[in-house]
This record gives sequence, structure tokens and C-alpha cells, in this order.
Amino acid sequence: MLIVEELSKSFDGFRAVNKANLEVGQGEIIAVIGPNGAGKTTLFNLITGVVKPDGGRVIFKGEDITGALPHEVCRRGISRSFQVVNLFQKLTVFENIQVSILAREKRTWNLFASSSKLVRQETEEILKRAGLKGKEGVVAALLSHGDRKVLEIAMALGGNPHFLILDEPTAGMAQDEGERCIDLIRTLSREMGLTIVFCEHDMEMVFGIADRIMVMVRGTTVAQDCCDAIRCNRMVQEAYLGGSNHA
Ligand SMILES: Nc1ncnc2c1ncn2[C@@H]1O[C@H](COP(=O)(O)OP(=O)(O)O)[C@@H](O)[C@H]1O
Ligand SMILES: [Mg+2]
Repeated sequence: MLIVEELSKSFDGFRAVNKANLEVGQGEIIAVIGPNGAGKTTLFNLITGVVKPDGGRVIFKGEDITGALPHEVCRRGISRSFQVVNLFQKLTVFENIQVSILAREKRTWNLFASSSKLVRQETEEILKRAGLKGKEGVVAALLSHGDRKVLEIAMALGGNPHFLILDEPTAGMAQDEGERCIDLIRTLSREMGLTIVFCEHDMEMVFGIADRIMVMVRGTTVAQDCCDAIRCNRMVQEAYLGGSNHA
């Protein structure tokens, strides 16, 4: 479904992503792991058009989308969440999800416009799926950290994606919140058939949920394999799992 080939990006001569490779099949859950600064977020930015690559290619469903703008990437069915929570603080949970649906439909959002009724049903469905029912009236700024991160995933669903990219979905969550988030990701994969790529530092979560794992070190793909093979990979153990920097 997605092929990333030798993708590269430098910032002021520093190679943040250096010929990274990634292959994702339809319906797979892929974890990208690697130490802080390995280039995971930049890789996601390159795939989703937030940052333009210096070299390499991104092929999605057989089409070259290298360097496409974020809204074009989104229109093709790739949605994402951000490492740092990115939502409308003054709007309610319900309104935030509505905005994400309207953005897809290229309609401007107005609380009092009839358009808000049109997306009501879809908003309700996403609320239910994300487990945010009962919190729809809460202003985003007042949500717990865990609920904010879940709302961000819910907003990514507003784009009606086939392919979801999640940047540290459980970062900073309490254990029960993290488990809830993992359940949500599994549900999205199983029930909606979404293909999911995420990066995460919590190895228990990574090994518990991923079909395959891509390991990134200093901008480069050092391994890409099933969980068992990654666990046994000596290079990976030295470069990452066995190292002192798990953060
Ligand atoms: N916009 C930017 N300008 C300059 N340097 C950047 C920018 N974005 C990322 N970097 C650098 O690229 C490297 C990789 O960062 P990042 O992709 O955020 O890593 P990760 O998500 O794996 O922690 C880091 O050294 C970071 O400082
Ligand atoms: Mg990051």
C-alpha cells in the first residue's frame, strides 16, 4: 500500500532522514522505533507532505505522491496525528470532530450553519468508535491528556482515511489510558480495516500490537521485520533495544 524508497531530508546540512525505506501492506500495523532524534517524526512529515524531501520517493497505492501537499495526501486517504497534541482548544470534543469532517469536505465551519447538522451523524459514529461518548460537550482544553490524544486520533478519522499515521499515540499517558488507546488502535485496524503506521517508545505496546517493526537509527532504516526477528536482531539490540537510550 505504501512504499518509501531512499527518502532523505537534511536541515542545514544535518541529515535528519537519510535514505529511509519502509514498506507497508494493506491492513498491516507497522511500528517505527528508534531513539529520540532518529528521524521518526520527520519521516512522517515527509510522507504526509508537511516537509518536502530532498531525495527518494513515496509511492501510495501505486502512485508517486513524493512532495505532494498535505491536503492532497489527505485526500488520497492518509490521515495522521501529531506527537504534540494539535486540536482546537476552545471547541468542544464534538465540534473538533465536526471540523475534521468538514475540512475533508472542504466546507468552512460555522457553528450556526446547517452544515453542522449534516455531519452530525458521522460525528456521532466517530465519537462512539473513539470511546468519547459522554464527553462530546467538553471543551478540548479541559480534557485529560489521554482524552486529548484520543480526540486527535478521532479527528484523524474525520478525514475518512484508509491509512493512519500516529506519532507517539500513547506518549505521556497513564497506564490505563495507554491501554485504552491501544484497544482503540486495534479496533480501528480490525473493524475498519485501516492500515496503521505508528511510532512509539513503549516497547511492550510495540511488540503487543505491531505486525512488523521498522527500526530507525540516525535517519536510516536499520531493520524491518516481524516482531520476533526484531527481538533477536543483534544490530537492533545494540543500536537500540540494548542501549541506554530508550527515551
Ligand atoms: N524543522 C527542523 N529544523 C531543523 N532540524 C530539525 C527539524 N525537524 C527535525 N529536526 C532534527 O532532525 C532530527 C530528527 O528529528 P525527529 O524527526 O523529530 O526525530 P524523532 O521523531 O525520531 O525523535 C533531530 O535532530 C531534530 O533536531
Ligand atoms: Mg518524534
